[in-house]
Amino acid sequence: MIWLIGNQGMLGRELAKKLEITGTDFVGTDREIDITDYKALEVGAAGRKFRWVINCAAYTAVDKAESDTGLARLINAVGPENIAKWCHVNDAKLIHISTDYVFNGQATSPYTENDPVSPESVYGQTKLDGEINIRNMHDKHFILRTSWLYGIYGKNFVKTMITLMNQKTELGVVNDQTGSPTWAGDLANLIAEIVAKDSQTYGTFHFSDSGEVTWYDFACQILLRAKELGLVGGECQLKPLRTEDYPTAAKRPAWSVMSKNKVTHVFGFAIPDWKDSLDIYLKETLAGDII
Ligand SMILES: NC(=O)c1ccc[n+]([C@@H]2O[C@H](COP(=O)([O-])OP(=O)(O)OC[C@H]3O[C@@H](n4cnc5c(N)ncnc54)[C@H](OP(=O)(O)O)[C@@H]3O)[C@@H](O)[C@H]2O)c1
Repeated sequence: MIWLIGNQGMLGRELAKKLEITGTDFVGTDREIDITDYKALEVGAAGRKFRWVINCAAYTAVDKAESDTGLARLINAVGPENIAKWCHVNDAKLIHISTDYVFNGQATSPYTENDPVSPESVYGQTKLDGEINIRNMHDKHFILRTSWLYGIYGKNFVKTMITLMNQKTELGVVNDQTGSPTWAGDLANLIAEIVAKDSQTYGTFHFSDSGEVTWYDFACQILLRAKELGLVGGECQLKPLRTEDYPTAAKRPAWSVMSKNKVTHVFGFAIPDWKDSLDIYLKETLAGDII
């Protein structure tokens, strides 16, 4: 049996869908079992035997975290520590999701799992603290760092772009931050595969879709395909911006491409191309009319 924590979030809902389709037994919880309260985890899981725990719960408001440090730390650092403790006491394997924001973005070649971390935002620091707490608490963990996540169930860059492209005739998008988009469906597939294989190759892994783009490049492809599919009606001109032209509370890494060699080598998981995955997402959006 699997315990999916954070089942109401963007990734959590995508993963729940995947587990349902594959007929995998799981129990999903979200806010009703507060991960920042160890007792709540104990009470919530009482009477059940979970072999796997997947933590998709997090504080993900990157800019708000700069001024809401206490809560971000509780959810992103203390929460994972509590979950790891529960897994340790109950001998369950833990899959936890982390972020490319643990890096400072100064690299010039894809970040490997062994590269030094140096977060530049409160969100990145609290996510890193969560990783460290898990490693200190429980050996049987898989920490999956991902980047630029989007999916049909939550607020994200692709949805925001399509909404704005339908409202504006001109749109500025940052063109000096480079990374790799990740469709939540691809990450859900990887997680489901790790569980299905009952893997014991514990550790930290990087996963995103393949390719490296700026937010502006990403927006150009969204516009192209969304117009072809009829998700954007009128004309919208995209304008490349510099980071300093679009100030945000939290600093983002300028370059956060991660190497996927380890995840491919260890799990034999083929890394999907970001444009192909964007297409799947857009067609899914079109079919479900979720925007
Ligand atoms: N989104 C991205 O671009 C991105 C990029 C890299 C990595 N990640 C990581 O990927 C994972 C999934 O992200 P996501 O975008 O799917 O997140 P999300 O949509 O924000 O979902 C997180 C879920 O956790 C719940 N939650 C928050 N605090 C909780 C608590 N104390 N106890 C129980 N549940 C709680 C949230 O409830 P509320 O909605 O009520 O707060 C929400 O349902 C996270 O670990 C995130 O850090 C995300």
